[in-house]
Amino acid sequence: MSRVLCSGPSHATAEIEIVVDAMDRECSSAAAELIHARRTVLPKRLLAPGPDADQLHSLLGAAAAAPDHGRLLPWRFVIVPCAERASLGEVFAGALRARDASATTQELDRAREKAHRAPLLLLVVVDGQCGDPEVVLAERILSAGCAVQNMLLMATAMGFGSALTSGKALGSTALRQRFGLHAGEQALCFMSVGTVVSRRAARTRPTVPDYCSTLGPAPIHP
Ligand SMILES: Cc1cc2nc3c(=O)[nH]c(=O)nc-3n(C[C@H](O)[C@H](O)[C@H](O)COP(=O)(O)O)c2cc1C
Repeated sequence: MSRVLCSGPSHATAEIEIVVDAMDRECSSAAAELIHARRTVLPKRLLAPGPDADQLHSLLGAAAAAPDHGRLLPWRFVIVPCAERASLGEVFAGALRARDASATTQELDRAREKAHRAPLLLLVVVDGQCGDPEVVLAERILSAGCAVQNMLLMATAMGFGSALTSGKALGSTALRQRFGLHAGEQALCFMSVGTVVSRRAARTRPTVPDYCSTLGPAPIHP
């Protein structure tokens, strides 16, 4: 255990003490390795076998460890089993036809085909209305993102590839109806998990200074 003491300004009457339980070195380097090993592998490159029943349970269980302000459980997942892939394909094709009446047969077939990729496919849904209205949508989506990342990392640890995919069909009435979304819910993305058959070259990731700065002293106003 390491102890970090964060003292307030000298005039403060009380000191704020933050105790951080540091994971041991071995555990933290394993975590870093796992985090940096996760990469998007597009659904068309994910084949069977997918997670078995126990693995699926562990994957979904990882989501429950996400931070969740107010314990609203503002997200859920809907698994799309093999038997329902064709019907999801029709939703994708219908959504395309609804926004582009001139879509060709080939384009519609391509939209349908997307529903058949990856052995595990699930929809990520956020609820913007359940529970305490003080917990705004941004917080709920952030919680959903944490749950999703937990699952992606767990999938990576199990040796599977994974991907998140979005697309215009997510906001379509047909998809909302097919997945039984109620008025306050929003489809965020699909998650695909499976065995990697091939992968793209890794992307160059941003470096810490690209996304982190330190707050300077407050400007002094006369
Ligand atoms: C909510 C969300 C939706 C995404 N949708 C797509 C998508 O539709 N198509 C795609 O190729 N990648 C999609 N991605 C994956 C990103 O393109 C990918 O994470 C990014 O290129 C970084 O690569 P990496 O995950 O390997 O680090 C999505 C990512 C997020 C977070």
